[in-house]
Amino acid sequence: MAARSAIGLDIGTSGVRAAELSFGRHGVTLEKFGQVAVPPGSVRDGEVVEPVAVAEAIRELWAATKFSRKDVVLGIANQRVVVRTVEVAWLPPAELRKSLPLQVADQLPMPVNDAVLDFHPLEEVHGPRGRMLRGLLVAAVRESVLGNVRCVERAGLRPTSVDLTSFAVLRSLGARGLDDTRTEVLVDVGARVTNIVVHTAGVPHFVRILLMGGNDLTDALAERLGTSLAEAEGIKQSTGLDAGPGVSPNAVRTIDGSAQALVDEIRGSLDYFRSSFAGTPPERVVLSGGGSTLRGFAARLEQGVRIPVVQGNPMQTMRLGRTGLDDAQLALVQPLAAVPVGLAMGANR
Ligand SMILES: Nc1ncnc2c1ncn2[C@@H]1O[C@H](COP(=O)(O)OP(=O)(O)OP(=O)(O)O)[C@@H](O)[C@H]1O
Ligand SMILES: [Mg+2]
Repeated sequence: MAARSAIGLDIGTSGVRAAELSFGRHGVTLEKFGQVAVPPGSVRDGEVVEPVAVAEAIRELWAATKFSRKDVVLGIANQRVVVRTVEVAWLPPAELRKSLPLQVADQLPMPVNDAVLDFHPLEEVHGPRGRMLRGLLVAAVRESVLGNVRCVERAGLRPTSVDLTSFAVLRSLGARGLDDTRTEVLVDVGARVTNIVVHTAGVPHFVRILLMGGNDLTDALAERLGTSLAEAEGIKQSTGLDAGPGVSPNAVRTIDGSAQALVDEIRGSLDYFRSSFAGTPPERVVLSGGGSTLRGFAARLEQGVRIPVVQGNPMQTMRLGRTGLDDAQLALVQPLAAVPVGLAMGANR
């Protein structure tokens, strides 16, 4: 039976954040949400590199937010995760799970014994090799997953499962009625990692993890202007892409160039998807993640991908419990909640 409540824990480059959901007869309620910053450099490209500091931040998060449980669903997104479409021989689910390593070993960029595998079936296909299942294979380097798991255990918590961050975003922002057959693109722009998922009615077709994000803009700005990272962050947030008078042309050009590089990468991924997908083309982009809140970014991305771009709201489909957050805080939290909320939703399957 599904748990009555669950907590999703997202370990990001800029902070750890967690959402507790409860699942009742009347739907899902967001009970708690909290976040605590981690020291710069302690999480690199999705992997914990300073476990003591990150565990300390997680402990602090639990103490401050008063979550009701210690078991958590963890997100994973790093450069050592691959997600690709594969075809495997059709088997009943339990047998498929057992045979998966053998079936996909020669398609992995890492030794199969070093990998954690997950398979999301999309459709049955019949061809020269008989009855097959086409689906998305997720393969993560075990060590990169275990590093994050050990850090969470060090903080006194129990990770019960690990899920791809992209699938968490899909659950929190892609859940709509199954009769809604539009294809859409979810893009979560973090500090260093950008997750892209294309889906129709919650069924993923394509996942890409880009090692790019909002911190690339800050780095470029600090270097160009010779300022500290903190100063550059302030300039980036106040300037965005719609610079008014009084902003240094150097700053404007730098933010513009770095944001455009990210837009170009996202567009490249979409062009690749469009060229290989036979179904309805994507109709819109839904944004999440702190990096997506850069002023003017949605409009710039819209120019790049030539379909409407909107900001996603993971709280849209749920009730709000006593989170202790006021409306202004909830609005700030909204883009950051997509991942932890989606991770917690995954526990209710
Ligand atoms: N108002 C703002 N304007 C522009 N950028 C912003 C703003 N607020 C936050 N950001 C940027 O958002 C990024 C952090 O986003 P987020 O918290 O989603 O990342 P993360 O989950 O910690 O990192 P990652 O997923 O890459 O590991 C930073 O690069 C930060 O500079
Ligand atoms: Mg993130």
